[in-house]
Amino acid sequence: MHTPHEALSQDTKAILGLQLPTDPRWVNLAAMSLEEVLTDHAYCEQKAAITCISLIQRYSRREELVIALAPIVTEEWGHFRLVLAELHKRGLKLGQQRKDEYVNALLAFCQKGGDEEGRLLDQLLLMAMIEARSCERFKRLSEGLNDDYLRKFYRRFMESEAGHYTLFIELAEKYIDKEKVRKRWNEWLKYEAQIIQSLEVRGDRLH
Ligand SMILES: [Fe+2]
Ligand SMILES: [Fe+2]
Repeated sequence: MHTPHEALSQDTKAILGLQLPTDPRWVNLAAMSLEEVLTDHAYCEQKAAITCISLIQRYSRREELVIALAPIVTEEWGHFRLVLAELHKRGLKLGQQRKDEYVNALLAFCQKGGDEEGRLLDQLLLMAMIEARSCERFKRLSEGLNDDYLRKFYRRFMESEAGHYTLFIELAEKYIDKEKVRKRWNEWLKYEAQIIQSLEVRGDRLH
């Protein structure tokens, strides 16, 4: 029954290059309410839209970046609205935004000072990383939830975020030497795997 997911899981591994197959915070689906899942998801989408807007503001002179990210803002906001609609449809409420230790840990890895190119590279790879891991999370939800409708719901998000992951890497390659992008991306992958592992060791859940 889940054959297409199996095939895709190979692809996901090959394409995304994530060092650990799943985010342990998303493993224990049974312990989470749908309201929590959808609330956390809604804020992820909102943050993605906000971050794209702030990248456009910060790098307004980089025309290709502006052109590439403008429609992503609309798309991510559309995702937020889809999740919101799903909550309301089910008589659930958008809860409070929670502290995201995963994203905070990733932010700490970004180059703060130094050359603009290095900072731009990290901003784009940070987004690629979050998109790749979101894709992985949604894959997990699309496989792990009992509700058939929700499995399909999450599968569509999964495909969309996979496209965004690619877009951020390609954008980095437009402005920065490909070798440099690849080298730094590998550092990001290693760092992210450490975060996932430390969250797992501490037994953190989604939030
Ligand atoms: Fe999204
Ligand atoms: Fe996205």
